[in-house]
Amino acid sequence: MNYMPVDGKPDRMHVGARKLDLADWIEISDDYESDLAKKRELLKNSHDRVFVSLPVGDQGSKEVLELLRSHLPTAFPSRWPNGVVVDESLHPLEAASLLVQEDLALMTQIGTDWVLTAACLCFPSRWDVRDKIGKNLSGIHGPVPHYEETIAAATQNIHDKLTVERPIWRVNWTVMDSGELHQPVAVRDPNAMTVTRDNIDQTLYFRRERQTLRKLPNSGDILFTIRTYSDVFSDVVARYPEFRKNLGTTLLGVTPQMADYKGWAKILNEIEAWSQG
Ligand code: HEM
Repeated sequence: MNYMPVDGKPDRMHVGARKLDLADWIEISDDYESDLAKKRELLKNSHDRVFVSLPVGDQGSKEVLELLRSHLPTAFPSRWPNGVVVDESLHPLEAASLLVQEDLALMTQIGTDWVLTAACLCFPSRWDVRDKIGKNLSGIHGPVPHYEETIAAATQNIHDKLTVERPIWRVNWTVMDSGELHQPVAVRDPNAMTVTRDNIDQTLYFRRERQTLRKLPNSGDILFTIRTYSDVFSDVVARYPEFRKNLGTTLLGVTPQMADYKGWAKILNEIEAWSQG
């Protein structure tokens, strides 16, 4: 298990961008085959719900596929000993997405805006990619409480200033009552969560998104990758015993609007009690 963004400090929205070593651009785990099987199934049975594209993103999408074709056999020679083979009939971003566990989103600069122009999003954290295509950063983040007044300007600035030589990565996290990676439904009934302090260990999941942003040299587009990890609380505590106490103190910083957005309104008290137990 990797990535522990909960450190016990009260929660506050922040960008937290770090320099990415391109050798670590893509992560491959033991779940590779099963995650890719899920992607193939979603793309076969629910294609239009997980894949979107606009013609203006075609050039960048081709570039993403070419970058992966050269990166993967170098970074993972035992998995790709004879190079990368893809289905050439697919949209290049879809073909690219079927090589990696990451979700892929392409941002194109139109005027001063960075706009989502293509995406293959099989493992969203309760949002629907069809609502986001063609939108700029503020439009995409519309439902996120406090986004505009806290990190909107910094997020725009990161996109404006990103260079080919200096890609970045960051981590987002949340708590859900399901370990299923494919979570497309935006609004969830908070009463549906039947969590008590006694069953939390087995009922709640700690979900992390490792995100990377990389500027593409030819198109000038930005590729945003999202790699989602989810582990049941009992496994998280076994690996990081301090998580139990830290989650409680971190959640003390959550605003009511954020608790609502995350679907936590009815479970915060139970988590606090568990955390102090
Ligand atoms: C530096 C870059 C970025 C930062 C700092 C950032 C930050 C955030 C934060 C803090 C949230 C709230 C998540 C939560 O706490 O659960 C969020 C949500 C989200 N972000 Fe970003 N983001 C960035 C780039 C992007 C890009 C390029 C996309 C393009 C697809 C994107 C798509 C989304 C979506 C779809 C959501 C969920 C919105 C919803 O609930 O409808 N983000 N982002």
